Amino acid sequence: MRISNLPGQISESKTLAITALAARMRAEGREVISLSAGEPDFATPAVIRQAGIRAIEEGWTRYTPAAGKPEVRQAAAESLQRDFGLQYKAEEICITAGTKPAIYQSLLVLLNPGDKVLIFAPYWVSYPDLVHMASGVPVIQKTEEKNGFLPTKEELEKVFAEHDLRCVILNSPCNPTGAAWPPELLETLVQLCLAKETWILSDEIYGQILYGNTLHVSPAEIRGGRKLTVVLNGLSKAYSMTGWRLGYLAAPKEVTQAVAKIQSQMIGNPCTISQGAALEALGKDHSKERGEMLAAFQERRRFLLDRLPSIEGFSLRAPAGAFYMFPGIQPLLDRKGWDDEGFCMEALEELGVALVPGSAFGFPGHIRLSFAASMEDLKMAVDLLQAWTRTFGGGGTPKR
Ligand SMILES: Cc1ncc(COP(=O)(O)O)c(C=O)c1O
Repeated sequence: MRISNLPGQISESKTLAITALAARMRAEGREVISLSAGEPDFATPAVIRQAGIRAIEEGWTRYTPAAGKPEVRQAAAESLQRDFGLQYKAEEICITAGTKPAIYQSLLVLLNPGDKVLIFAPYWVSYPDLVHMASGVPVIQKTEEKNGFLPTKEELEKVFAEHDLRCVILNSPCNPTGAAWPPELLETLVQLCLAKETWILSDEIYGQILYGNTLHVSPAEIRGGRKLTVVLNGLSKAYSMTGWRLGYLAAPKEVTQAVAKIQSQMIGNPCTISQGAALEALGKDHSKERGEMLAAFQERRRFLLDRLPSIEGFSLRAPAGAFYMFPGIQPLLDRKGWDDEGFCMEALEELGVALVPGSAFGFPGHIRLSFAASMEDLKMAVDLLQAWTRTFGGGGTPKR
């Protein structure tokens, strides 16, 4: 029997593939330190868990309107105001089954077949495939490490001059680099988008996981930006709720309504029980609960910033947000004649350390380490990597 061409044209998420291989090795009794996961290693805060349980007990177990319950949309509007300084009405917000579906459904609404979508590399692994699945054409604009993994003003102007872009995907702070867009660069982007009637899909899922003096700025805050921006967010990272599958988008009403229409046919409505938990999560200030997680991330980030550059062949930029490091390792690859995927497979096989190759993010020669892992695991992993890479001139594999 025949199936369509689409599954063959998209790739399985490499982060998931490596996490799965690590899990399989563990099941076989091998010790694995997983630095490949893209989810916080913290439980969903107790009050939010309780709200989920209460939702079941109180009968939040039926269908809801496609765009979500009105009070949950209102809670999302309050969170956007309180946590991001953005003003949206409940009717401009659609609750979704996670940020990933929010991105896909937005692309379905904004793109006609063949429309071009600008994506900056390094990019979150799923963007190009989501664009393909929505019949769009990704235009990949590579950034440079020396520019902090951000495009320059000139690069932006050039790519807008060369391509008729329907849409730009922005991810600030970025997975995998942690780079955050400064307001001046956002202003340039918004001006270019206004001139060309280009939409901005602004994935702000790491907007509450920031370090140092970094401030989160949304293109919707930039003058002229609100009418061309779709703000995408979710509960997975900021509230440790990856499995609840809940996100939302805020956009001009006609986009929100169109997304809700598509959602009504694709999934019906986002999980009603999770909407009950989201009412608590988004409706109240949970910065205190988040503080514990942020303090841990801060300590781990500090540790990695101290230790990773001491590994010969590693180059590193400090992430402004999110919970990843994205070191360059090209000198080590050259020494071994490997590519970054080979490096990660060897690190998993030889050391039992799971990492993600930069090529998964459209940026070979790098690796991504998630610091959503305990300090003990991070220390052990860095020690192993340091000892292992020292042998690259020759010698054997370090033992635990
Ligand atoms: C940049 C980015 N956007 C979206 C997502 C997906 O989030 P959700 O769990 O809300 O679908 C992730 C998850 O890793 C991510 O890193």
